[in-house]
Amino acid sequence: MVLKYEDPVVIGITGASGSSLGYKTVQYLLENDYKVIVTNTSSARLVWKQEMDESFGEILEKWSEYKGFQYFSGNDLSASIASGSFKTLGMAIVPCSMNTIASISQGITGDLVKRAADVSIKEDRPLVIVPRESPLNTIHLENMTKLSKLGIKIIPVEPPFYLKFKTVDEVTDFIVQRTLLALNLIDRLPDYMTYKS
Ligand SMILES: Cc1cc2nc3c(=O)[nH]c(=O)nc-3n(C[C@H](O)[C@H](O)[C@H](O)COP(=O)(O)O)c2cc1C
Repeated sequence: MVLKYEDPVVIGITGASGSSLGYKTVQYLLENDYKVIVTNTSSARLVWKQEMDESFGEILEKWSEYKGFQYFSGNDLSASIASGSFKTLGMAIVPCSMNTIASISQGITGDLVKRAADVSIKEDRPLVIVPRESPLNTIHLENMTKLSKLGIKIIPVEPPFYLKFKTVDEVTDFIVQRTLLALNLIDRLPDYMTYKS
C-alpha cells in the first residue's frame, strides 16, 4: 500500500471536551492513507476516559495497525516533531483546550503538543486549532486573536445549522472536514456538507 505523501500530518489531542473530534480526524487520515503522527497532553486522556467508549490505549493499539501511524507521548520532547528539521504537512490540535492555546500564544512549550505547535509556527507550516470552551472570556479571545494574527486557522466547534444535521456525529464529521480543508489536505467539503440555496 502506497501512502499519500512522504511527510506526515501531526495531530495533537488536548484536554478540551470533544475527544471524538480528535478520534475522527485521525481515523479519517489513516483510512485515507496519510502518514499521521499523534501526540496528546496528559489531560487529553482524562477527558477521553470521560467521553469515549474505548480507552485511549485501545484506540492507539488499533491505530498502530495502520502503516502510516506513529505515536509519541506528550512527555517525549525528543520526538521527531519537536524539531523544525523534521518536515511535516502541518498540524491540527483537535480538540484544543484554552490552556494549550494560552501556552502556544505565549511561546511556552512544556509538552510535545505545545512544542510541535511552536515548531509549526516558526517553520511557517499550516497550524489549525479546534478550540472548545463556553463561554469564552477575554483572555481566551485575546489569545486566539494573537494566534489568528500569526495565520493559525481557528475552527470553532459550532454546528452548521443551515445544513439541518440531526446528530452530533454529523456535526463532528463536518468539523473534521473543515479542519482538513483548513490544513489544505482536501480542496472542498463533501457535497452534502455544502450550502445550497
Ligand atoms: C471532562 C473535562 C472536560 C473539559 N473540557 C474543557 C473544554 O471544553 N475546554 C477547555 O479549555 N478545558 C476543558 N477542560 C479543562 C482542561 O482539561 C484543563 O484546563 C487542562 O489543564 C488542559 O490541559 P492541556 O491543555 O495540557 O490539555 C476539561 C476538563 C475535563 C476533566
